[in-house]
Parts: sequence; C-alpha cells; structure tokens
Amino acid sequence: MSLCVLIAFFYLICAPPTLADSGFDHLDGAPPSKIAIIGAGIGGTATAHFLRQHFGPEVAIDVFEKGVVGGRLATVTVNNQDYESGGSIIHSLNLHMQDFMKQLGLKYRKSIAGKTAVFNGKEFILEETDWYLLDLFRLWWRYGISFIRLQMWVEEIMEKFMRIYKYQAHGYAFTSVDELLHSLGGSGFLNMTRRSLSDYLLELGVSQRFIDEVVAPVMWVNYGQNVSIPAFVGAVSLAGAQANLWAVEGGNKLVASGLLKLAKANLIQAQVNTVSLLSNGDAHQYKLSYSSTTFNGSDDVYDIVVIATPLQKNVKADISFEGFEPQLPDIPGSYHQTVASIIHGYLNCSYFGFSDPKLFPFTSVLTTGAADLFFNSVASICPVNITASFRRKQPHEARVYKVFSPEPLERNELKTLFKSYYSVQVTEWQAYPQYGSSQEMPPMILHDNLYYLNGIEWAASAMEMSSVAAKNIALLAYHRWTRQLEMIDQKDLMHKIKMEL
Ligand SMILES: Cc1cc2nc3c(=O)[nH]c(=O)nc-3n(C[C@H](O)[C@H](O)[C@H](O)COP(=O)(O)OP(=O)(O)OC[C@H]3O[C@@H](n4cnc5c(N)ncnc54)[C@H](O)[C@@H]3O)c2cc1C
Ligand SMILES: *[C@@H]1O[C@H](CO)[C@@H](O)[C@H](O)[C@H]1NC(C)=O
Ligand SMILES: *[C@@H]1O[C@H](CO)[C@@H](O)[C@H](O)[C@H]1NC(C)=O
Ligand SMILES: *[C@@H]1O[C@H](CO)[C@@H](O)[C@H](O)[C@H]1NC(C)=O
Ligand SMILES: *[C@@H]1O[C@H](CO)[C@@H](O)[C@H](O)[C@H]1NC(C)=O
Ligand SMILES: *[C@@H]1O[C@H](CO)[C@@H](O)[C@H](O)[C@H]1NC(C)=O
Repeated sequence: MSLCVLIAFFYLICAPPTLADSGFDHLDGAPPSKIAIIGAGIGGTATAHFLRQHFGPEVAIDVFEKGVVGGRLATVTVNNQDYESGGSIIHSLNLHMQDFMKQLGLKYRKSIAGKTAVFNGKEFILEETDWYLLDLFRLWWRYGISFIRLQMWVEEIMEKFMRIYKYQAHGYAFTSVDELLHSLGGSGFLNMTRRSLSDYLLELGVSQRFIDEVVAPVMWVNYGQNVSIPAFVGAVSLAGAQANLWAVEGGNKLVASGLLKLAKANLIQAQVNTVSLLSNGDAHQYKLSYSSTTFNGSDDVYDIVVIATPLQKNVKADISFEGFEPQLPDIPGSYHQTVASIIHGYLNCSYFGFSDPKLFPFTSVLTTGAADLFFNSVASICPVNITASFRRKQPHEARVYKVFSPEPLERNELKTLFKSYYSVQVTEWQAYPQYGSSQEMPPMILHDNLYYLNGIEWAASAMEMSSVAAKNIALLAYHRWTRQLEMIDQKDLMHKIKMEL
C-alpha cells in the first residue's frame, strides 16, 4: 500500500466525516457566498469560527454587533485594572472554551484562594474554613447523605452532557434543543428542563435543609433566582460551584474578539433592524437592513443568517422579520435582570456581625434568599490580569467588590454594605432567562437557512452552552446546505459512534 493510500485510509477512519475541505463536489448546488451572524458575544463569534471551519475559506462571513464585542462577557475598569462584570467563571470540563483558549494562545488566569460563607440576613449559617477535612466533616454533620447524593447527581449529568463533544467531533447535528438534550440524556434530560430543581432534589432524597442552605445560595449567585428554576439549569449551576474553575487572563471577552479574527470574519458595527425574506422560486435569501450612529441605513443579502442574541422582547434586540409567510412566531418569555455593581471601597463588616474587620475571613458572601435581602451576593474580586506579586487585599483595606442584586443599589443600601467607597460602576444586565416563565424551548431553525442560537439558554445559560449551540448550528447549517441529512437528528448515537470507530 502506498503512503498516500495509507494516509487516506487513516484519514477516513479517524477524521470526523464532515470537514469543509471535503468540499462541495458531490453537490449540484453552489456553496453559499455570504453568511451573516447577528451578535458578537461568545455565541456569535464561536458560530463564525465553526462556520469558517465547515464552509471553508471562500465564503464571506459578516458579524453584526450593535454594542461591544463580547456581549455579556465584559469588563469594567477600576484604578487602571479591569474586572469581569458579566460571565466570569469557566469549568475545567467546558471543552469548547478550553479549545478556543488553546487555539487563540490565551492564558489561564490564576485563581487566588478565598473563603465563601452563606449569610441568611442575620448570621452566617455556613462558613468555609482553611481545612478541607473539617469542611467535609461539617457538611456531613449538618447535612448527612444529602451532600453525597447531590455530588453524584451532578457528576452523572456532567458525564452524560460530555457526550456532546464526541457527537460534535463526529459531525452530528440536531434540529432543536430538545433533540440535542434527548441524544445526551434521553427523556431524563428533557424532564429535567421541565421540573423544578427543588422537587427533583427532594425526590432524590436531598434534604430540605440542604436545599435551603447550600443549593439555594448557589442558584442566587449564579442565576439570581430561587430553587424553583428547572433541575437541568440547576445542575449546570451546581457544577459551576465545584472546584476546577478558571477564567481568561486579560478578560473572558478576549475569546470573542479572538474568535472573530481567527474566523477571518468581517465585523460590522451596526444594529440589524430587519431581516426580510427574498424568494426566488424555492430559493431563499435574506436581506438584512442595518444602521448605526456613524452611517445611515444600509442593507445586504445573505444565503445563511444566524441570530446569536436573545429575541425575547425585554432584551431589546429590536429585530423585525418581514416577508415571512406565515409570519415567524414571537419568541415567548423574558430575561431576568441582574445588576452587577463593581464597588471600590471598605466593606461594612459590622453588617455581617464582625465588629473588627481584621477578623472578617471571607472573600465571598452568598445569601439564602430567605431574608429577602436587597442583594444576592457580595464578593471581593481579582482583576483580569494578575501579576506574580499580586496579593488579595485584606478586608480592612479598600478592596474591589462585585455585588449582584435584582435592582440597582440605592444610596442607603450602599451605605449599609460599605463603610465608605471610592467608586461604584453599575451594569444592568438582562442576564439570563427568567426560568419558569416559558417552559417550551425556543426553535433553533426559524426558516430554511435562518437559525437562532440563544434558545439553548432555556436549557441553561452559560458560555459553554452558547459554544455548544454555536457548533451545533454551524454543523446544522452545513449539513442542511449540503443535504447530508443523515448527519442530522440521528438516534442512538452512542452506538453509532462505536460502530464508526
Ligand atoms: C452577570 C452575569 C454573570 C454570568 N456568569 C457566568 C459565569 O460565571 N459563567 C458562565 O459560563 N456564564 C455566565 N453568564 C452567562 C454568560 O455570560 C452568557 O450565557 C453568554 O455570555 C451568552 O453569550 P451569547 O453570545 O449567547 O449572548 P450575548 O453575549 O448576549 O451576545 C449577544 C450580542 O448581540 C448583540 N446584539 C443584540 N441585538 C443586536 C442587533 N439587533 N444587531 C446587532 N447586534 C445585536 C448584543 O449587543 C450582544 O453583544 C453570566 C451572565 C451574566 C449577565
Ligand atoms: C420523563 O417523564 C415522562 C412523563 O412524565 C416519563 O414517562 C418518563 O419515564 C420520564 N423519564 C425519566 C428518565 O424519568
Ligand atoms: C421562587 O420564585 C418564583 C418566581 O419569582 C415564585 O413564584 C416562587 O414562589 C418562589 N419559590 C420559592 C420556593 O421561594
Ligand atoms: C492582560 O493580559 C492580556 C492577556 O494575557 C494581555 O494581552 C494584556 O496586555 C494584559 N494587560 C495588562 C494591563 O497587563
Ligand atoms: C443621514 O441622512 C441625513 C438626511 O438625509 C443627513 O442629514 C445625515 O448627514 C446623514 N448622516 C450620515 C452619518 O451619513
Ligand atoms: C454598617 O452596618 C451596621 C449594622 O447593620 C449599621 O448599623 C451601620 O449603619 C452600617 N453602616 C456603617 C457606615 O457602618
């Protein structure tokens, strides 16, 4: 056998069957000439990257962004240092995010140890110590088997969820969030998107006390909502409370800007106002009308369009759809507001019952939600660039804190939490879905070659979820364009993939 044949043989066995370089030669149709993506958050920029991989170097990819590249990954500056104000933590098993980091040559940001405690409005009911075994013992003592049950449950879900990377590496795509979840965890996963976390955990044998004192604080800090949120997003949130978390040196938003460059996408700083359907027999194209403060209206025509921003009304993407018959349905539900205040000042430790701030041992304070407090969490945070000489400041010194709250903090609330402060920077996020307001998963395919990425957030909202959806939409768009329907919504993939190897 010649070397070439050997290599070709090896390639056939080992390569995922759908790479772009296999070209369009088996097709009667031409490749798309222009693709548009609306939104340059992690979802839109990852989509650009994956579309480039699948469709090859010829197609023009335009990415529209009305605000700042990165979207909900953003930083604010205090004293010449940047701090994450939006999405901040990444789990070590978030493989797409890891892969982006590697390809972009970005560095992991060192994490600086700190202790967490849970505050119920009057006192701390759970305090982390320096001694891991003591913490473990205390959790056992206080909550018994609940702790282990929860841990095992989260791990089992993570393990199933990670099948997605294998499916995607083999080129398989799904037409909806439900199909995707079903392929990973069967009807069990679908049920978890429809049932509340608290019901689910009680049924698993986790105690009410553990739910109130440990699980609820994690939901408040991650999603600003109580344990009535669906079990699936609850599990994602709990996974994010484990060890092995990291962030990107220089800021998570560097991943988004890096992916745009890697994809050789054309960034258009403009707001897309209208997506109109142009029909020519069976062939469809989409006209995007857009505008910005620096130029008057303009428009362009695309073969494929991906919407990578939430379409719920209160998020204000303000995109209207014209010429679709029947009209595209409205996407129901709303987004939950979480206000991130980055405050440089002196924490009022007396508020937490520590008259001497020097004795205040915690860097993060979570809350139980029981006392109806005006904030969800307070944490001393580190800048996105950490030098070798960096040390965390002590609680009696001025530090930079991040406070999450449902409403902007009023002056008297700031005066309660802080003895005094130098600066306050407020970002009002339409942060993640208001879970429970709509249980139906929004569609991923809005029309022939018009896709919607952010429906995945209704399963769970996280950077990695947007990245998984980005890969899925890139594959879906590619297979639908090239009519490789056998790569879409296949059942029993675990088995199929084993047979392929
Ligand atoms: C406070 C907070 C904390 C979070 N913490 C974490 C965390 O620790 N870990 C984690 O994994 N996730 C976290 N998340 C969630 C995570 O940030 C999001 O899931 C993720 O960033 C969503 O990315 P996206 O690209 O899908 O959407 P977005 O980032 O919202 O991107 C959409 C983009 O589209 C643009 N756009 C909208 N309409 C138009 C238009 N008409 N024309 C042109 N452009 C338009 C917007 O300006 C925006 O930039 C957090 C979110 C918030 C708000
Ligand atoms: C999910 O719910 C359906 C309907 O209630 C039930 O029939 C099915 O057994 C559930 N699946 C699992 C894995 O629990
Ligand atoms: C959780 O929040 C929802 C929506 O805000 C509310 O309807 C529900 O009563 C709350 N549940 C608990 C257990 O506090
Ligand atoms: C922060 O880190 C990023 C990524 O490593 C680097 O590009 C940037 O120059 C750094 N900024 C500062 C102020 O050190
Ligand atoms: C937009 O159009 C208006 C009216 O035609 C004109 O006055 C204005 O200068 C234009 N603005 C830009 C940025 O081109
Ligand atoms: C700090 O907290 C204490 C206790 O809640 C409160 O009495 C005081 O007014 C707060 N503010 C300052 C500036 O100390």
